[in-house]
Amino acid sequence: MNKNVLVVVYSYTGTSLGVARLMCGQQNWTLGTVVETRPRRGAWGTWRCVLDSLLHRHPPIRYEGPAPGDFGTVVLVSPIWALQLAGPMRSFVVRERARLPDVAVVSVMGSRGAANAVAEIADLLGRTPLMATAVTAREAEDGSCAARLQAFGTAVQSSQTSQAVVRPTTLSTEAS
Ligand SMILES: Cc1cc2nc3c(=O)[nH]c(=O)nc-3n(C[C@H](O)[C@H](O)[C@H](O)COP(=O)(O)O)c2cc1C
Repeated sequence: MNKNVLVVVYSYTGTSLGVARLMCGQQNWTLGTVVETRPRRGAWGTWRCVLDSLLHRHPPIRYEGPAPGDFGTVVLVSPIWALQLAGPMRSFVVRERARLPDVAVVSVMGSRGAANAVAEIADLLGRTPLMATAVTAREAEDGSCAARLQAFGTAVQSSQTSQAVVRPTTLSTEAS
């Protein structure tokens, strides 16, 4: 097991979890998960997602996984809600920011909003993520994002191994 990179995922409907598991399988990385202490259900649960984004709220969470500070890089995998970072991942970044090492970001979305999520994470951390990419839910579901995620993971791994300076990059698609 590679202890240099930790993938931390929040997923509401399971797509981001699939992406995170794929990346862990491709690179032999470790997975940690952000879990909401107040689960979302039905239409009100979905509205709460939107309100969390519009109001930039920090819903209560717990984190299940190894300590992020024990790793050289953490890859954050999260959905986009109402063009923003999903609230539970916002809560995780705020709670763990003092312990987070270099961060890379993978946004999972219908079509747009990833750039806002990366900018918010940079703002919360006070530093720019090492690199970032985005995949659409459709690309995640049909598996067509696999090659791009492999390349992204390899870039994260090599930046980790070489300690080289890697400029923030969006490797993805037309989606932003
Ligand atoms: C409340 C809500 C708001 C969303 N807003 C956006 C959005 O602004 N832009 C977008 O591209 N996708 C949006 N989506 C789609 C999700 O980002 C997409 O379905 C993602 O794959 C969900 O990931 P998950 O299955 O890991 O929860 C939204 C989904 C929900 C539930």
